[in-house]
Amino acid sequence: MKILLTGGCGYKGNVLTPKLLKAGHQVRVLDTMWFGNDLHNHPQLEVIQQDVRMLNDDLFDSVDTIIHLASVANDPAGDLDPTLTWEIGALATMQLADKAVRHGVTQFIYSSSGSVYGLKDEKDVVETLPLVPLSEYNKTKMVAERALLSYADEMSVQIVRPATVCGLSPRMRLDVAVNMLTMQALTKGEITVLGGNQTRPNIHVEDITDLYMFLLENPEIKGVFNAGFENLTILEIAEMVCGFADASIKIRESNDPRSYRVNSDKLLKTGFRPKKTVESAIMEMCDAFKIGSLKNDERFHTVSWMKKTLIKS
Ligand SMILES: NC(=O)c1ccc[n+]([C@@H]2O[C@H](COP(=O)([O-])OP(=O)(O)OC[C@H]3O[C@@H](n4cnc5c(N)ncnc54)[C@H](O)[C@@H]3O)[C@@H](O)[C@H]2O)c1
Repeated sequence: MKILLTGGCGYKGNVLTPKLLKAGHQVRVLDTMWFGNDLHNHPQLEVIQQDVRMLNDDLFDSVDTIIHLASVANDPAGDLDPTLTWEIGALATMQLADKAVRHGVTQFIYSSSGSVYGLKDEKDVVETLPLVPLSEYNKTKMVAERALLSYADEMSVQIVRPATVCGLSPRMRLDVAVNMLTMQALTKGEITVLGGNQTRPNIHVEDITDLYMFLLENPEIKGVFNAGFENLTILEIAEMVCGFADASIKIRESNDPRSYRVNSDKLLKTGFRPKKTVESAIMEMCDAFKIGSLKNDERFHTVSWMKKTLIKS
């Protein structure tokens, strides 16, 4: 199949692209390369440095499926320039869907976010709960979902609401909880935990990318799916990290007491099963750091990197 993958040079995209190529697909990556390009050349891979807000018709040539990952990809990054966040997150997604239908694309896989639910009293967050997104980033995800669902009669629309992702990727993200705590332990010998009792769902980067592969192979599985399998407190994650890295834990007052558990039973009913764990993500990071293949690179810190290279205030 021919796949148009937006955001293919990002954290998830760098893990997903080799899986798509290995499965024999032809992959066209569209990415602004804000964090560089770590993808390896491959005869079936075309990498285009371009903004998803500027879509020319040629991009859709013979494309069967779109996997849409490009986005300003966390809350504080989304607050840096709300107009940019809305243009990319919501408007460009709508334009992508519109062009997809016009060019006969039959399948659209979208990475929304588990953060669309906002603050929930329910301890078990399922897909049918109302969405009350809080940040600009969360709001654009909700609006993009709704825009995409309005095209569901014309192509297979598969929307994933991932929990916080963890684990190794060539374009590492060190702003996400497990990865951030592990890097603190490895570089400072001390983990700072704010509060610590907040429960948050997690998913390994290998599992979320396996899920995109699973959906690609099963276009009949349509609709919206939570994807988060380990609901852990921040303190539990920090303690897990200390099992693999020589570090102590410092607890400070929290400015964010939110706790929620994502329920992914709907996804499990499709037959999909995660294979990895938070523990394996920590272990793999520690091993990679020891042999020097993982570094605390400044481009792995999304917000400070965007401030330095992209958004001048
Ligand atoms: N990593 C997580 O924990 C997580 C959790 C839930 C949802 N998501 C979503 O998954 C998707 C991928 O996230 P990620 O962790 O790989 O983030 P990332 O920041 O590593 O990757 C995003 C990629 O999109 C590219 N990009 C941004 N704006 C673009 C534009 N206008 N045109 C073309 N390319 C553009 C960036 O250059 C980057 O390579 C995002 O939509 C994110 O919101 C991520």
